[in-house]
Amino acid sequence: MSQSPKNPARYTITAALPYTNGPLHIGHLAGVYVPADIYTRYLRLTGKDVVFVCGSDEHGVAIPMKAKKEGVSPKELIDKYHGIIKKSFQEFGITFDNYSRTSAAVHHKTASDFFVKMYEQDDFLEETTAQLYDEEAQQFLADRFVTGTCPVCGNEEAYGDQCENCGSSLNATDLINPKSTISGAVPSMRETKHWFLPLDKYENFLKEWILEGHKQDWKPNVYGQCKSWIDDGLKPRAVTRDLDWGIPVPVKNAEGKVLYVWFDAPIGYISSTKEWAEREGKNWEPYWKSQDTKLLHFIGKDNIVFHCIIFPCMLKAHGEFVLPENVPANEFLNLEGNKLSTSKNWAVWLHEYLEEFPDMQDVLRYTLTANAPETKDNDFTWKDFQARNNNELVAIFGNFINRVVVLTNKYYNGVVQEPIDFTESDNETLSDLHKYPERISSSLERYRFREAGQEVMNLARLGNKYLADEEPWKVIKEDEQRVKTIMYVAQQIAAGLAILSEPFLPFTAAKLRQMLNLSSDTKWTDVQSKEQLLLAGHQIGAAQLLFRKIEDEEIQKQLDKLAATKKDNESENRTLMPQKETISFEDFTKMDMRVGTILEAEKMPKTKKLMVLKVDTGLDTRTIVSGIAESFTADEIIGKKVTVLVNLAPRPLRGVDSEGMILMTENKEGKLVFLNPDEDQVGNGETIS
Ligand code: 2FM
Ligand code: ZN
Repeated sequence: MSQSPKNPARYTITAALPYTNGPLHIGHLAGVYVPADIYTRYLRLTGKDVVFVCGSDEHGVAIPMKAKKEGVSPKELIDKYHGIIKKSFQEFGITFDNYSRTSAAVHHKTASDFFVKMYEQDDFLEETTAQLYDEEAQQFLADRFVTGTCPVCGNEEAYGDQCENCGSSLNATDLINPKSTISGAVPSMRETKHWFLPLDKYENFLKEWILEGHKQDWKPNVYGQCKSWIDDGLKPRAVTRDLDWGIPVPVKNAEGKVLYVWFDAPIGYISSTKEWAEREGKNWEPYWKSQDTKLLHFIGKDNIVFHCIIFPCMLKAHGEFVLPENVPANEFLNLEGNKLSTSKNWAVWLHEYLEEFPDMQDVLRYTLTANAPETKDNDFTWKDFQARNNNELVAIFGNFINRVVVLTNKYYNGVVQEPIDFTESDNETLSDLHKYPERISSSLERYRFREAGQEVMNLARLGNKYLADEEPWKVIKEDEQRVKTIMYVAQQIAAGLAILSEPFLPFTAAKLRQMLNLSSDTKWTDVQSKEQLLLAGHQIGAAQLLFRKIEDEEIQKQLDKLAATKKDNESENRTLMPQKETISFEDFTKMDMRVGTILEAEKMPKTKKLMVLKVDTGLDTRTIVSGIAESFTADEIIGKKVTVLVNLAPRPLRGVDSEGMILMTENKEGKLVFLNPDEDQVGNGETIS
């Protein structure tokens, strides 16, 4: 089996094509795009030949479903979200060499040609089988058009292509108690012809390639998922659908059928590379076909089966392409303890984040990297975001740079001085600095982005400690010559940070490079070399603020926003009580309801809910015990007009006879609300009928 080379001639980096059915949130950035961008920027800084591609995934049933919900056409929907998504990527500094879309002509042709080649090679099974059909909507049901119980874990909300609870990849007909998501109908079975990829035939290939070939270098979460699919036995999988949205199946007798979205989407990586090559005057083929190319797919964990099993089988069957060398999939990011959810609006949307925290993209990139869901699901909290910013970016990184730049300007008008004599501590510090590129590379090469990001912060810590130990601001009073050397060492660390932080904090690094007047040619390996980065006589610029403190009020505002979302979701989920048994008009007229006024109110001791009220009913003043103490204080309700059921048989409650009932309802937040008659219009004792 051919293995990708240790020192590849070029890299092809792909990041999952996002569906154009909604904007991007922090989960997308943390799971896929920030690590992919860090890795690519790092490769570029180390002088590697790399292409980084992505694009919008515009097919699949999710698109027409969402379009219907928004009352627009699928085309209007994809155009809208393609624009929003592309803009977010640009704003957050995700440096794709090309961002395409699967509606592009080049993609339709690439995917169609891919299918035809496999078809002509007899790589598919062509079968007519009974599939789920919605009689009401007159449509076959697959993927997200059908839900039901997962046969693996029993989750009752599994989809026709995948169970999001256990991650199993499913066929719609596997679901127990299937139900159409279009009409709610129970589907019937109807025969239809489709083309299947016989995954079972590739078992030996997958065992050798993944289970034997990548046991050591693939992340345990990725390897483990693959192993369990392979061990469970693979089944043929349909790669076409009965749908009017997608790429038409490019063979005869396939009217009304399109390619399955998961057949065409990963081919989108190839189409995007072609688009890039065409624009840049390059040849795309070595990036996909040369054995000395390293292909890497950055994805979230829900995409593992498609990138590690199905797409590689397609690539293998097709025969001309390299296989991925690694698929460093991340787990999921949660938000304040709950699963991120587009439909429940439980998310930090990227475009909204920038409205609240303009020009603070790096803070989010840094926080998401420091807390990346690399080996297990992780939680984003606003408090952690604030702490990472205030205690690390501001207090360590920003503080160190500020000291270096301000002091260089103050003592030497911004000119780097010739160092005089290096002490042991200077030499140790410089030698430490030279080790950082290797240290960070080593973490990145193993896809440990959290660790790599922390190493960058450790370099800033090294600088801070050096300055705190050497105290140039004190030494300047008695030994001006020594300070030249101290500042020289600190300046080298600042320059090192400008280069090594770039993959993680690209906006900050660009500012820092500009502040230090550092040539754009300086690369990763230059930090390693003994030759220093800023030589004597070099002129740096004025100090600029790199980070600002985030105040408690800003964080509280975000927490309040989430609390309001939670409340909205809870009230939407409230189920109304079913209607009670019918009563006769006579039964109704037996109830004597009157307008009354609460005269006195007192919480009943040793109870949580009960309040003892004195109510003027117009007929008399009577005692009523009411379960309202959790919703109101006594002061709030004294003098309130209320509706009272006055002929309810008296009943003792905790030793007090209650002589009636105050009528109440509950609002969306679960708070009790009085049914109070218009205060001015009616007097106590008036009947209600
Ligand atoms: O899960 C998703 O958002 C898919 N649109 C990812 C596709 S990745 C690739 F295959 F294109
Ligand atoms: Zn399941």
